[in-house]
Amino acid sequence: MDPGLGRVRVFLMHDDNKPRKLKYNLGPELGERRLLTFGGAYSNHIRAVAEAGRRHGIGTIGVIRGEEHLPLNPVLAHAAACGMTLTYLDRGSYRLKHTPEVQARLRERWGADVVILPEGGSNAAALRGCAELPGEISGAYDVICCPVGTGGTLAGISAGLPEGRRALGFAVLKGAGFLAGEVERLQREAYGRTWSNWAINLDYHFGGYARSTPDLDRFIAKFRVEGVYVAKMLYGILDLARHGAFTPGTRIVAVITGQPLGGPVIAGWPVSGPVIASP
Ligand SMILES: Cc1ncc(COP(=O)(O)O)c(C=O)c1O
Repeated sequence: MDPGLGRVRVFLMHDDNKPRKLKYNLGPELGERRLLTFGGAYSNHIRAVAEAGRRHGIGTIGVIRGEEHLPLNPVLAHAAACGMTLTYLDRGSYRLKHTPEVQARLRERWGADVVILPEGGSNAAALRGCAELPGEISGAYDVICCPVGTGGTLAGISAGLPEGRRALGFAVLKGAGFLAGEVERLQREAYGRTWSNWAINLDYHFGGYARSTPDLDRFIAKFRVEGVYVAKMLYGILDLARHGAFTPGTRIVAVITGQPLGGPVIAGWPVSGPVIASP
């Protein structure tokens, strides 16, 4: 074990949050209706919805922020190849995509019965999917850590935690103070209540969404982790541990939500602990 970590143990759990978020959004109640959702041009969520649509024979519409750029980038080309219909929304309207006006315009264009999934897929059904994660951890632990974009994954994990365990999210956006309210709103929407077993750390955004620093770049290169979400969380956990922020002996499950880490990464990982779950 890295002696600088204050006897904190970190277990890595490979777990893509996208299928969890979609699981209850793709239920039989969807019927023949199409799923419409939003994302940036490189959105993991757009890719996941397009793939799920293809797998389950569900029509999907991706509303992409900004203008169309041809040729399509690999994410959008893949989405289109999965059968997703791509459409574009100017940045001003995109910011207002959750408002009744913009949603009415989208329904007018794409059909009144289209099912609208929010950006990042975070809604009540997504929380129910993510709430199943803690129940699948077989080992003993104290804290589950995850990266935070829209807050849906953290909100769901928190809702599914056994008594006495805690969830700690690491915001990848700058100025993400609003996310605490989002987590509460999502929990209320899904369960009619909130939990106080979670927190969001705002200190490891490294300049904002998809931004980096030389220090984070070195970390990503050394451990070969996904850079937008996972690296920020892992960096944050290690840094906090080194500064004694966790009680000695704390057992942390770090959820690797992006692509799985490669073998060399785990071999070079500076903290002790087996991988306790893998896909
Ligand atoms: C790899 C990865 N990790 C974490 C997140 C953050 O999840 P959430 O938006 O539920 O906070 C996302 C976004 O969907 C993601 O793509």
